[in-house]
Amino acid sequence: MARTEKLQSEQDNWIGCLTYQSTATSKPSAAELRSLAHQARTRNRSVGVTGMLLFEEGRFLQTLEGPPEGVEAIWSSVARDQRHSEIEVLSRHMAPARLFTGWDLFLSSKLSHAPDLADAAAGIPPAMAKHVRKAARHALDGDDIALNAMIAALAEQGWTSAAVLNLLIEPTARALGDAWLADDCSELDLTIALSMLQLAGHAVRYETAPQAIRSSRYSILLATAPGEPHMLGTALLADQFTDAGWEVEMTFPDSEEALLNQLRAQRPDALDIGLSDALFRQQSLIGLRSVIEHSRSVPANHPTVVSVGGRLFAEAAATAATVGADHARTTAAGASVRMAELVRQSRQF
Ligand SMILES: Cc1cc2nc3c(=O)[nH]c(=O)nc-3n(C[C@H](O)[C@H](O)[C@H](O)COP(=O)(O)O)c2cc1C
Repeated sequence: MARTEKLQSEQDNWIGCLTYQSTATSKPSAAELRSLAHQARTRNRSVGVTGMLLFEEGRFLQTLEGPPEGVEAIWSSVARDQRHSEIEVLSRHMAPARLFTGWDLFLSSKLSHAPDLADAAAGIPPAMAKHVRKAARHALDGDDIALNAMIAALAEQGWTSAAVLNLLIEPTARALGDAWLADDCSELDLTIALSMLQLAGHAVRYETAPQAIRSSRYSILLATAPGEPHMLGTALLADQFTDAGWEVEMTFPDSEEALLNQLRAQRPDALDIGLSDALFRQQSLIGLRSVIEHSRSVPANHPTVVSVGGRLFAEAAATAATVGADHARTTAAGASVRMAELVRQSRQF
């Protein structure tokens, strides 16, 4: 194919992307929001549009993406909708790929989730739900002794480190996030409770890694996403990768540049970027995609394998492809083994 034709066909695949913010003219109820999102989803799907809609403290933030004529059709309706005003377009551009593959419209709002600790443990084995509620309560009460005792008791019963992470610590972080969403605790309470979990997580003993990984001495940079204050996942990974014999550096960057600088200095075999394990953070996806894209052009001895994690990925709302990563971990459990495998595979080409 001639270069101009190739460029043309690439351009034809580009998608329109529009992000705006606005103010609700009156406070919608949770049912009204759900119904709005339900109708919007059906229409968006019919014209190939995906996106997300956030509602918080009386304000909307929405991204619409898809074929330009589809985005325009939806936008012309949305822009004259009387349910919001002070509409401000934040960006309008063409992009090579979607950010929200698989979401006809992802609705997030403090109103649309109103669970409490009683149903925050939904989706995990019933026998565990009571442990999760108990752990969330201990974490919120700042009761590190009770939390450590719980983990020690489970380990004594033969629980593996993977089970403790996957069935107790990570679901408890999500339960705490839900407690915050339901206004059962303040943001500060949530952050403190997550650090209680982080401390308790140090007591988890990781099984000895296979010799092949131990002797490889792969290196990894464990980072929180730029500006992300919740570092539970990153801290859990640090213990696990260290125990598995990796060279581990950690960073909690406040900007993309800070993270890229660290990457330039260290040139690790792998990079993991963690979003909150408690909250969805869908607003961070655009920044995450950018940092990953830019990390690809940092000179390295071998291409760096990039993984991402956090609640958004654990609950399968977003995928590695959404942000251009090589891997999205749904749990911290087993991450060092999976990453070693990915690094090994990346060297085979
Ligand atoms: C904040 C906000 C976001 C909306 N997002 C969408 C959307 O993504 N897709 C959609 O079809 N309708 C959306 N709607 C509803 C549209 O504004 C409109 O009511 C609906 O598409 C019907 O269009 P029509 O009035 O032109 O028939 C949204 C409304 C509001 C207030």
